[in-house]
Amino acid sequence: MADDAPPDLASEAGFELLHVRSPALRVPLPGGGAESGPWESVRWTEDGIPILLTDPDRYLERVGDDVSLPLDALSFPALAHLSRYLPQLVAPNTPMRRAIRGALERHLDGRVGLAVELGCSVGPDLRTLRMFAREVIGIDLSIAALRAARAQLDGEVVPLLARVEGRSFRSEDPICLLPMDGITVAVGNALDPPLFPGVADVVASVNVLDSVRSPVNLVGQMDSTLKPGGLLIIASPFCWADDFTPPEEALGGGTIEGFASLGTADALVELLSGRLPILSHLDYEILEQSDVPWSLRDHARSVTSYDVHVLVARKR
Ligand SMILES: C[S@@+](CC[C@H](N)C(=O)[O-])C[C@H]1O[C@@H](n2cnc3c(N)ncnc32)[C@H](O)[C@@H]1O
Repeated sequence: MADDAPPDLASEAGFELLHVRSPALRVPLPGGGAESGPWESVRWTEDGIPILLTDPDRYLERVGDDVSLPLDALSFPALAHLSRYLPQLVAPNTPMRRAIRGALERHLDGRVGLAVELGCSVGPDLRTLRMFAREVIGIDLSIAALRAARAQLDGEVVPLLARVEGRSFRSEDPICLLPMDGITVAVGNALDPPLFPGVADVVASVNVLDSVRSPVNLVGQMDSTLKPGGLLIIASPFCWADDFTPPEEALGGGTIEGFASLGTADALVELLSGRLPILSHLDYEILEQSDVPWSLRDHARSVTSYDVHVLVARKR
């Protein structure tokens, strides 16, 4: 298991211990693999977000000043991400967010120990997961999103950015939500999550499956993080854009053996039931599937609408 962060390191940096000390978190080693490195080696942001990647220095170089500038003064890609996802925080009753809450209500029998979200962005579902779990861990690769997530969970004021057009943004009424404890956010790769196997009672990935290079790997990692009997939630609009997922990795309309003739929803059911040559050890009971509308505003004159497939399954 991971060495815990030494108390003086965490308190010297002014971090809440709760934010960094989850025993479920693993410190990836430079050479990869399933083992954990020491917490002393972890790099973190000034706002207390651990960077749990195999090469944190390269990541910090890549994100540059986005790690420390005020949230409304970040690079264009970071501002574009925030302007798309921050409005989700102030719209907790949209069909997308209600679908996640409803799945948890229907399929959890009381409060569980740990819920993990891979690809949590600014955290619209982290608060919901916390209603059903004593501890929540949110993992994402976007430093801008996680800084906004950390701030809103700590009850800080977060600028609500709206993209006007091109690279121009305006600030709308800022977001200020009640602080919520028990939620850790960490920079990590969902395809190599900084988590020990079999730690979570719930693993959710909402609108991420078609944002990763290898969706099969994402499903495999979600499975490996989940305890037997745990709840799996995969929601996705199955966009399969080549920029994110090479066609030879796409679950629907792709070329993977056994998947070619299936749409993604059917492919996921087959995959989770262990009926495909890939990940044939998977053994899930499919609890429910539904389609829900979801929309993201790109800029003042453009909204993209999706029809998101939500699949809920229990690991046997
Ligand atoms: C389409 S957004 C969905 C965000 C949020 N779950 C929601 O439903 O609003 C996809 C998110 O996944 C994150 N992401 C993409 N690839 C990732 C990876 N390999 N590891 C961790 N996060 C990833 C992106 O940074 C982004 O925040």
